[in-house]
Amino acid sequence: MNPPPEHGGRLRAAVRKWGMPPERWLDLSTGINPRSWPVPAIPEDVWRRLPEPDDSLDTCIRQWFGAPGSAACVPVAGSQAAIKALPRLRSPCQVGVPSPGYEEHGHCWLSAGHKVRGITGEQLVAEDESWLDELDVLVLINPNNPTGQFIEPHRLLSWHDRLQRRGGWIIVDEAFMDATPEFSVGFATGQPGLVVMRSLGKFFGLAGLRAGAVSGDPDIVGPLDGVLGPWSVSGPARYIMSQVLVDHQWRAATAERLHSESRRLSECLSRHGLDGSTGTALFRYVRHSRAGDIAAGLARQGILVRELAKPAALRFGLPGSEPEWTRFDQALYLSDVY
Ligand SMILES: Cc1ncc(COP(=O)(O)O)c(C=O)c1O
Repeated sequence: MNPPPEHGGRLRAAVRKWGMPPERWLDLSTGINPRSWPVPAIPEDVWRRLPEPDDSLDTCIRQWFGAPGSAACVPVAGSQAAIKALPRLRSPCQVGVPSPGYEEHGHCWLSAGHKVRGITGEQLVAEDESWLDELDVLVLINPNNPTGQFIEPHRLLSWHDRLQRRGGWIIVDEAFMDATPEFSVGFATGQPGLVVMRSLGKFFGLAGLRAGAVSGDPDIVGPLDGVLGPWSVSGPARYIMSQVLVDHQWRAATAERLHSESRRLSECLSRHGLDGSTGTALFRYVRHSRAGDIAAGLARQGILVRELAKPAALRFGLPGSEPEWTRFDQALYLSDVY
């Protein structure tokens, strides 16, 4: 059995479960920036014409990743499209995925007939790296969702070296990297067996657009593009992507703001007994044996957070306005935290 993973952001399900109308909910169950990049009007011909692959998007993506000329870069309809398609590019093999981590990776490799094992956060920092020698493909989420764990680029690239000597791959999911681009390994994506994916859904707050990109070994990214087929990213998504990726001012200001809000969220959680949170600029993660009770206590007040099992934990996204911060703070007083 390989049931599809659950995700945050399922507001309609919460509305049904708790009998509260959608407009009364504060949804903190995802790591999506609540103040997204302001999307401009889209020219009419972008809607009318078929997307053309030789527009300026390739250059924008290459700069976003800091990718060398030897890397292949392709836009994808959300990094999820690449997560689903990559396992189809290898015959059955041994794959390591972060545990806990965004569960679609393990699910998709397993569904494509591979053997999948979880790699824990402790293994990723241990001196003993012998677990690597049992893998053909290592998927890393950097920084990890939900724990926020970072892997230093030089460590990641040394693992890549070790795997590549046996024809192995490293796939790096950088969906949450945009507030900390100094940790990206996009600059190394010309190397054989290395693939990196990024998303417009998190930092840019454009999850509904379904847009992201992949950069990496042309022998992997070329076939990936072939599997995804022509026009897999819509013209409007390509247009928005090519605008947002050159808005360097918005990116710099947003990174600064998100870091400060993440600190504020961590302090707010600590004040209510949820200390020791880890995370990224876009969310905080707290392990707690009574995670389910706390999530239910907040849901009764119309606040949706992500409850995680194995280990029991909660993930909190950022409130988007002062009234939302106040509401969250007050709800924590009344929920079942203590
Ligand atoms: C770590 C991680 N990677 C990838 C994705 C997929 O995002 P998208 O398909 O919107 O790019 C998600 C979505 O939650 C995620 O958490």
